[in-house]
Amino acid sequence: MKSKPYVTKNDLKKGLRKVGLREGDIVFVHSSLSSFGYVENGADTVIDALLETVGSSGTVVMPAFTWTLYHDKVGVVFDVANTPVKNEVGLIPEVFRKRKGVMRSIHICHSVTAMGPHAKDVMGDGVRSFGEGSTFHQLYKLDSWYLLLGVDFSVCSALHMVEEFMQVPYRYYRDFRHSKVILPDGRIIPCKSVEFLRKKGYYNDFVKMGAIFDQAGILRTTFIGNAKIINVKIRDIFDVTKRYMEKDIGFLLTLESRRRLKQEMNI
Ligand SMILES: CC(C)(COP(=O)(O)OP(=O)(O)OC[C@H]1O[C@@H](n2cnc3c(N)ncnc32)[C@H](O)[C@@H]1OP(=O)(O)O)[C@@H](O)C(=O)NCCC(=O)NCCS
Repeated sequence: MKSKPYVTKNDLKKGLRKVGLREGDIVFVHSSLSSFGYVENGADTVIDALLETVGSSGTVVMPAFTWTLYHDKVGVVFDVANTPVKNEVGLIPEVFRKRKGVMRSIHICHSVTAMGPHAKDVMGDGVRSFGEGSTFHQLYKLDSWYLLLGVDFSVCSALHMVEEFMQVPYRYYRDFRHSKVILPDGRIIPCKSVEFLRKKGYYNDFVKMGAIFDQAGILRTTFIGNAKIINVKIRDIFDVTKRYMEKDIGFLLTLESRRRLKQEMNI
């Protein structure tokens, strides 16, 4: 049996620099720890490598999503400091969330964690997940990198940002009026988040965007251990995807769902 590659912090830093990450950069990270092989000291090493690569002038941002927990519930309480995220977004974001100095935003389903001088700027206003005023909107404004560590575009939340800005007809807003948020200082506030939910029977296909982005020449890729690493500017994700969606508003759906949308919209 072939043994797993052994990955050190230096291997990680070398790979991150290879895909263009530099001191002072802002980077949003989706990850899979097991994809590398065996990482010396686990999730902490990946986090240290990211923080050291962007340095003290850079900012690392990770998902701390709780969509599965809350999106279909009424009257829930989101405890910002204590709600875990491993089951939804993985061990690396879970370990990062608990690091001293890491901030977490207050969106009930799509909170993020961040460390660095721009952490406060990317917290968003806690209302929309991906649209105006959200973390993702801020990341666009700040020209952030978007980094995939051993995962493909199926988990690329930035594509939801394009859906929300384009106000796709296969989603609708629901609010969390009867829910509450416990802030890290213990104060309890009403939840002001809204979710741009997919209508029943519609399914996304994000995986295809990998080949489209590759063809557009916007991806920087390498391997660290067994993990494919992809780094891309969030603005490039947005701009390229928007061009496709301007021609076909259902472009981010599966073929079946696109057919359904065309029928329903009579186009
Ligand atoms: C779901 C997902 C996190 C699963 O990835 P994974 O590598 O299996 O799991 P994690 O990243 O949580 O890492 C934990 C696993 O790493 C492995 N592991 C543990 N220590 C390790 C080490 N030192 N080195 C390498 N792997 C190790 C274990 O298999 C562990 O699994 P276990 O917790 O069941 O024991 C990943 O596929 C994914 O989708 N990531 C992106 C999530 C996201 O951002 N989603 C946003 C919107 S959809």
